[in-house]
Amino acid sequence: MPTDGRPQHTGRLELTWTDKDRRLLSFEDGSFQWADRGDYRVSEVRLLHDVTAVGEVGTSRARDNLLIRGDALHALTSVAKIPEFSDEYLGKVRLAYIDPPFNTGQAFTQYDDNLEHSIWLTMMRDRLEQIRDLLAPEGSVWVHLDDVEVHRARLVLDEVFGPASFVTSFVWRKVDSPNDNKVSVTPDHETILCYTKAPGGGAAFARKLDESILNAYGSAAPDGRRYRDRLLKKNGKNSLRADRPTMWYPISGPDGVEIWPIHDDGREANWSLGRRRVAELERSGELIWKQRHAGTTGSKWVPYTREWAPINPVRPWPTIWTDLPTTRQAKAHLTALFPGVTPFATPKPEQLLARIIEMASSPGEIVLDCFVGSGTTAAVAHKLGRRWLAAEWSRATVEAFVLPRLCRVVEGTDPGGVGVTEESVPVSELPGQATISDAAAAARLLSAWADDAPEELGMSSAQLAILAKAAKRLSRTSTRTTSHWKGGGGFRVLDVGPSMFEEEDGQIFLASWAAGDRLAEAVAAQYNFDFALDTPFCGRRGDERLAVIDGLVNDAVVDFLLDWLPQGQLLVVYGTGIDPYAQERLAEMRRGSSLEKIPEAIISNYRQVGRRSAGLNWASDFLESSQAIA
Ligand SMILES: C[S@@+](CC[C@H](N)C(=O)[O-])C[C@H]1O[C@@H](n2cnc3c(N)ncnc32)[C@H](O)[C@@H]1O
Repeated sequence: MPTDGRPQHTGRLELTWTDKDRRLLSFEDGSFQWADRGDYRVSEVRLLHDVTAVGEVGTSRARDNLLIRGDALHALTSVAKIPEFSDEYLGKVRLAYIDPPFNTGQAFTQYDDNLEHSIWLTMMRDRLEQIRDLLAPEGSVWVHLDDVEVHRARLVLDEVFGPASFVTSFVWRKVDSPNDNKVSVTPDHETILCYTKAPGGGAAFARKLDESILNAYGSAAPDGRRYRDRLLKKNGKNSLRADRPTMWYPISGPDGVEIWPIHDDGREANWSLGRRRVAELERSGELIWKQRHAGTTGSKWVPYTREWAPINPVRPWPTIWTDLPTTRQAKAHLTALFPGVTPFATPKPEQLLARIIEMASSPGEIVLDCFVGSGTTAAVAHKLGRRWLAAEWSRATVEAFVLPRLCRVVEGTDPGGVGVTEESVPVSELPGQATISDAAAAARLLSAWADDAPEELGMSSAQLAILAKAAKRLSRTSTRTTSHWKGGGGFRVLDVGPSMFEEEDGQIFLASWAAGDRLAEAVAAQYNFDFALDTPFCGRRGDERLAVIDGLVNDAVVDFLLDWLPQGQLLVVYGTGIDPYAQERLAEMRRGSSLEKIPEAIISNYRQVGRRSAGLNWASDFLESSQAIA
């Protein structure tokens, strides 16, 4: 307890909400239910079932682009826990962009956005934790939101990723036409919160290409490289020797005469570089001498430094993005893709995603979006040569938008977005060098004259009006689109499988589908075994072999399995019925091996893991508060 009278402070800065320590179950109809951390319904690893493949796919489904139909919670758990997928995704996702429901209180046609804050925050926290585990050490997460939850989401992100991992919030202008005139303020923007997995990782983002930087380099070397020469003497009248005495020293000119930095008015100035750097420039031929004529006193040598134009002219990105297409244009793209269908309510423009993907990932790296909506992130990642993993829980949205859109991308028949350039071209041929804007200016001038025909033109108002009309016709444009994206690649569609459990009167049973090989596959997934049928075994995990018996496991079964078990391996057996003597026998015959009954063993394993993770939180809270007190 401080003795100087200062109040004692306890606790830490965090956002708290109702049932923050619990987890959340979501259902396809948009409803939710709270669950404890150890509840099998939030912990179970669901199987991923193949639905279809589009375009070119490889032999390993986990290495292909994946569209997963199902709740993000299950989709992300499966890719993080089933070894076939976790080998490809865990700690390897370079960029996660999510555009979750904003909790705006509006009811959209495609999904219910009216979640209560605590539900929304829990849903986000849980999925952000999963995303964090999937991200590569140099990966980043971008969370697209509006004013409703952005401030709360930032605190949740601070909690999950750490405040030092916050890069910035980007502002995207989402409208390009005046908003509802009946209210005084309407939001024109949405916010994208950006965090990196490691603190300070934003420095590695690709910077903005800006060719105009090259304009400052007015000269060209014989090999075509552009450069500019800058005076070595420090510019600015107030740069004086007295301020930086070490920058006042003589340099030998080409004729051997010593040159000092002196202002035109005779005051002693400074060089802009120190002696050592100037010596380096002299050696590399980048200290340039030019002769300056100084009236009657003849000419004198003046030193310059040569600066080469950057090979890659880039500058930092601004955080306010007003130069991108808006929601209206994103919807127009969807309308062009699906004429006659009511466009998806909240699509983002492909160019917005292209900017993010190009800033934060490179070709071949994995881009994740587990709220993929109409499929924008997947479509852009595909066109930009990234691998992608997308999830969407609404089957209707997948069927109406994501799947057909991505098929068009693979076929190369997507009519808009990234990969298509649009330019205005004149409807009719313009004469000579004239441009569309010349024709428009002529039309304006002629119609002004037509109103009040100047005498010296010798034309009537009617004649001038005809000419104005002709000029106007020449100024009319149409849009010419050129498609650079020619299609290619492919993807797989997977379904999140149903639960392997069923519940009746508070009792948990194995679901009727969970039998035979499918039961074996489901059990392997729960315990991170590589599933491989190799009778009588069905999985491997290090030096352990898995056997799942849909029936009673007794001494005879144990002996049979042990007969097949290679030397030096351990046996992990799950049976739907077990004889306690068989457990003892296995422990005796192969120490370290185990035999447990399902589903009880799986359910209790989840409970223990849930208790441990709650315990760990408690322990870290305790540690933190005791350190604060110390
Ligand atoms: C704002 S939209 C995404 C729009 C998308 N960025 C686009 O450009 O089309 C949010 C999407 O997340 C989906 N969604 C909501 N909760 C989900 C969950 N728990 N798992 C997977 N998808 C979910 C909704 O069905 C909706 O399609």
